[in-house]
Amino acid sequence: MSRICKRKKGHINITLRENVEHEIKPGFGDITLVHNALPEISRSDIDTSLNFFGHTLQAPIILEPMTGGLNEATKINKILGKCAEHFGLAIGVGSQRAAIENPKLAKTYRIVRDMAPNAFIFANLGCPQFAEGYGIEEAKAAVEMVDADALMLHANPLQESIQPEGEPNFRGLLSKIRELTSKLDIPVVIKETGCGISSEVASKIESAGAKGIDVAGAGGTSWAAVEYFRAKKIGTKIQQVLGITFRDWGIPTCVSIIEAVRSTRLTIISSGGVRNGIDVAKSISIGATAGGIALPLLKAAVRGERFLNETIKTLIEELKTAMFLVGARNLDELKRVPLVISGFTAHWLNERGYKTYEYARRPS
Ligand SMILES: Cc1cc2nc3c(=O)[nH]c(=O)nc-3n(C[C@H](O)[C@H](O)[C@H](O)COP(=O)(O)O)c2cc1C
Repeated sequence: MSRICKRKKGHINITLRENVEHEIKPGFGDITLVHNALPEISRSDIDTSLNFFGHTLQAPIILEPMTGGLNEATKINKILGKCAEHFGLAIGVGSQRAAIENPKLAKTYRIVRDMAPNAFIFANLGCPQFAEGYGIEEAKAAVEMVDADALMLHANPLQESIQPEGEPNFRGLLSKIRELTSKLDIPVVIKETGCGISSEVASKIESAGAKGIDVAGAGGTSWAAVEYFRAKKIGTKIQQVLGITFRDWGIPTCVSIIEAVRSTRLTIISSGGVRNGIDVAKSISIGATAGGIALPLLKAAVRGERFLNETIKTLIEELKTAMFLVGARNLDELKRVPLVISGFTAHWLNERGYKTYEYARRPS
């Protein structure tokens, strides 16, 4: 098994067995949707569908990129792909670097497209690889491998700084992103992996021609925590300390959504600690187009197809219930409902110049 595949296996085992979530919160607890005691709609009127990069999704839920490159991953990707197809959702495959370097592994990713012929699929590669020499050829190979509808590029400077074999080089990436967005005929989405994206970075991403941002903010899976557990196993002391010190580093998900939404015209995906359908509803109400979930779906997928389907069904029912309780018939109406922002999220946003009171009295 190659070094990359061993690392992927280690990541799955650690995320399934250890507590790898941030201590800090994603901020959904600071957002209160104003309850509507007379919603004037029937719950059966509610439509959760949306147009997502020209493709119809049945609900604003994305199965976030996680895995590929080894046998265990094939099994997990098979179940995730089937689920995305069944519910009409979008799905990302994990970083395809392993298969770019060893094409025999392509099938561990391709299984997602085989199981989900109609679903919206994101290909996935890491930014550091582009700083180190990848270009349009590797991007096209990843896209073709899963017949992708869009390419996600993940930025993970914290993880690269902590993992023993990390490649913390992000030099010249914006021009690489510009090259990819001009040469690929599908949308490019830039994502973090648990530290969020600020308004300043969001604007640069937009200028580089990307069509979307997945904020992957702090408040869910912490890659510093994951790398801490790996370093502990390998016995690398400094990485263990770094993993603990930086466990809670990052921009919490809700502030990151608002910063990205308010500073660009891009499609914004909310992820990082999205844990139920109310979190998805809150994400949409502050301007995200969809909510993405990783760790809980990995845990559900390893319990089997039935359990994963029940998990997704519950999420959709929670989302619909929240929509009913604020009187939103569809996702456009959900984007306009009044809400109150409090706590650290309000403090952060006010310090950064956003008028949080505007969300509390929205014109209906
Ligand atoms: C086991 C695991 C593997 C992951 N692998 C990738 C990856 O290959 N590429 C990527 O862009 N993000 C990857 N992520 C990050 C997720 O896509 C997501 O951005 C992050 O975990 C936050 O979501 P969560 O709090 O719901 O887990 C991975 C997450 C997990 C849990």
